[in-house]
Amino acid sequence: MRRIPPTARKALLTLHLVTSLGWLGADLTLLTLGVAAQRGADPAAVYPVAALIGTVLFAPLSVLVWLIGVVSALLTPWGLLRYRWVLVKLVITTVMVGLVLFLLTPNLRHAGALGAALPARDRADLVIAPAVSTGLLIIATVLSTYKPWGRRPAARPTVASRTSRDRATTRM
Ligand code: HEM
Repeated sequence: MRRIPPTARKALLTLHLVTSLGWLGADLTLLTLGVAAQRGADPAAVYPVAALIGTVLFAPLSVLVWLIGVVSALLTPWGLLRYRWVLVKLVITTVMVGLVLFLLTPNLRHAGALGAALPARDRADLVIAPAVSTGLLIIATVLSTYKPWGRRPAARPTVASRTSRDRATTRM
């Protein structure tokens, strides 16, 4: 496994970028709506829209980003557990998918149903949650471009077993 033709790899990377950065964009939209409601926009109009975006865009994208991210790692020489930057992204995304599916989406649906009747504490949560997740996705993006920290020791091959493919990976 691990090696796919360059054209297929570019297509996969394009898919990965469109979904993951689309996810970041949807997150920023939720943050904007949460802040707007705090700053006087009509909650009866804002929260149903946030619930719709959360349910039909943000939650499905989270699963898609996780799946395409994992496939991107497994089908390229980066591997899923070999490099710290990939592993940290995997952890960030996995935690986020859990929180989005089991906490944020139900909360957004609840807010959409209650509208103006949503308590102040719950309104604050709809700013804090997308603010934190946007921060995490920006970290994931920075890790992707800088690719820091090198290989994990456990995943470092011995000199004897090191293949030319691995040498090519290190230079990427
Ligand atoms: C399960 C989670 C994820 C995994 C395992 C993963 C893994 C990977 C891998 C292996 C690559 C390199 C692909 C290649 O060289 O062809 C990559 C690229 C990239 N990823 Fe992810 N990713 C994940 C989630 C994310 C998220 C959440 C974001 C941002 C919101 C993101 C942003 C990027 C970007 C911008 C690149 C392009 C880097 C470059 O080409 O220099 N990824 N990812």
